[in-house]
Amino acid sequence: MRIYRAKDFSDMSRKAANILSAQVILNPQCILGLATGASPIGVYQQLIEWYQKGDIDFSEVKTMNLDEYRGLAAGNKHSYRYFMNQYFFGEINIHPENTYMPNGLEMDAEKECRRYEDLIYRLGGIDMQLLGLGHNGHIGFNEPGAAFEADTHGVALSPSTREANRRFFDGEEAPREAYTMGIKTIMRARRIVVIVSGESKAEIVQKAFLGPITPEVPGSVLQLHNNVTLVGDEAALRLI
Ligand code: GLP
Repeated sequence: MRIYRAKDFSDMSRKAANILSAQVILNPQCILGLATGASPIGVYQQLIEWYQKGDIDFSEVKTMNLDEYRGLAAGNKHSYRYFMNQYFFGEINIHPENTYMPNGLEMDAEKECRRYEDLIYRLGGIDMQLLGLGHNGHIGFNEPGAAFEADTHGVALSPSTREANRRFFDGEEAPREAYTMGIKTIMRARRIVVIVSGESKAEIVQKAFLGPITPEVPGSVLQLHNNVTLVGDEAALRLI
C-alpha cells in the first residue's frame, strides 16, 4: 500500500485527483469506480478545473458508482445519481449514458444487483476505484459484518451510517436501505484509491489499515488488495 500524506482537505483532493487524472490520461477509455459523500467533492472539483483547462478529456470514460439509496429516483435531490450529476457529471464532457449506478427505483433487489454486477463484468471491470471510508469502517455501503465474499447486494443501513448521512437530508428522514457493490466487487477493481480527511476519521483509519483484517471493519479488507493508494490529510492520518 502506498500512502500519500496531504496537508489538508484541498491538498488531499488535489493529490487524489492527480492519480485519477493519470489513469484517464493513460487510458482514455478506462472505467472509473466513483464514490459519494463529503470526501470526494474536492477531488471532483479539481478534476472539473483540469477539464476546463483542457487537460483531461472524459469523452470516452465510463464510470460505475459504488452505491445508491433504494427507493430514491434519479431526480430526487438526495439520491446519489443527483449528487454525481451535480458535483461531477454535469460539469465535464462525460456522456451521461456512460455513467452507471444502481437503479434505486428498481425494487426487486436481487434483479437490480445482478444487473449491476453483470454490467461491471461485461464492461471489463473497474480500472480504478475511488473510495471513502465511513466512521464505522464501511466502504460503499458495506456495513460492519458484511461478508467479504458478497458482490452487489441490497443492505439495511446501520443507525450510525444513517446518522452520519443525515447532514445531507436537511431534516428529512434518510432512507433505510441501499444497493451497494459488495466487498468482492470492490476488491476486483484493479486499483483502489482511498481518501480520508479530518480528525474524526483518524481512529477508523488506524483500525482499517493497521488493525486486524475483519468483517467488523469492512475497510480492513483493503489490506489484502495489491494496489491500494491511501491519500489522507494530516488529521486523518495522525495515528498511522
Ligand atoms: C457514505 C457512502 C460511502 C462514503 C461514506 C463516507 O455512507 N455510501 O461511499 O465513503 O459515506 O462519507 P464521507 O466521505 O462523507 O465521510
